[in-house]
Amino acid sequence: MSASPAKISLTGIKPTGEPHLGNYVGAIKPALKLAEEYEAMYFIADYHALTTVRDPKLLRHYTRSVAATWIAAGLDPDQVIFYRQSDIPEIPELTWILCCMTGKGLMNRAHAYKAARDRNQEAGKADLDAGINMGLYNYPVLMAVDILIMGTDAVPVGRDQMQHVEIAADIAGSFNHVYGDSFKLKVPQAIVPEAETGHTLPGLDGRKMSKSYDNTIPLFCSESQLKKLVRRIPTDSTPVEDPKDPDNSNVFQILEQFAPPEITTDTRQRLQAGGMGWGELKNQLFDILNTQLGPLRERYDALMAPGSELDALLAAGAEKARKRAVPALDQVRRAIGIG
Ligand code: TRP
Repeated sequence: MSASPAKISLTGIKPTGEPHLGNYVGAIKPALKLAEEYEAMYFIADYHALTTVRDPKLLRHYTRSVAATWIAAGLDPDQVIFYRQSDIPEIPELTWILCCMTGKGLMNRAHAYKAARDRNQEAGKADLDAGINMGLYNYPVLMAVDILIMGTDAVPVGRDQMQHVEIAADIAGSFNHVYGDSFKLKVPQAIVPEAETGHTLPGLDGRKMSKSYDNTIPLFCSESQLKKLVRRIPTDSTPVEDPKDPDNSNVFQILEQFAPPEITTDTRQRLQAGGMGWGELKNQLFDILNTQLGPLRERYDALMAPGSELDALLAAGAEKARKRAVPALDQVRRAIGIG
């Protein structure tokens, strides 16, 4: 009996900032686990970032930084398919084709576009489309193509991206309805990784750690910066000798995600018993983070150095990805009567 080919999972990462501890726990680690179960594909969505990042140096920097981060975090480019979206010219070509099969009304209902219009309304602007570019408007079509061109089965996404996967499924349906007799696009499914339903990390102001709140601890900042930032995590004024509730402590919540289980249990008991101060807890958190992230940071720095192997790794990944994209586009072109 021959084994059926592994199902394909696809993860897109938009390079719009420096990865932080919250990304690592909430997105990177769970996404890397997919490789155990799927033929896993990961890519840097640099054309998606272009809808907001307008500084060429910054876009290039974020793209390399995100790529280096995922490899440093354990992504093995030999075991999975890892590439840069812009290295796959078939993606923009298929985007035009699928734009022609996508209802404008479907895009009018997309959350990100609607939110941008709501912001204009709240600001009292007469033109609700003010400042909205066609890249933002068409964003869901480009994302649908990312998914469909690879024949993706499963797309792990946060709740905010579920609608985009549903749109991709809709667009595949429209295509298949008209051309399905000659070629069918695979209809993808969204999966929500466990971590999303479980833990998010608190940031430097106690709210969820997020780039949009400007409260993050960068994953690969220097040791001294890491120490400084850990000190800034807010705590209450319970005296050292008093018992403390670990589950109400921002510092403990971060520690829990990084420390080995025995250490977490031990620290929990010491906090509850009293006698362990916040300062001591912060020192412990810093040590744990620094020990765990130190080797990753070294790998990251090496990959970020000019002339590193990073570009060759991405080029090799693009070649593997195009083995899927080129025939898919070819079949679509044939089905629609182009070329
Ligand atoms: N829109 C996604 C985000 O902002 C990034 C993304 C682009 C993506 N293309 C994708 C995610 C395809 C999954 C599949 O996070």
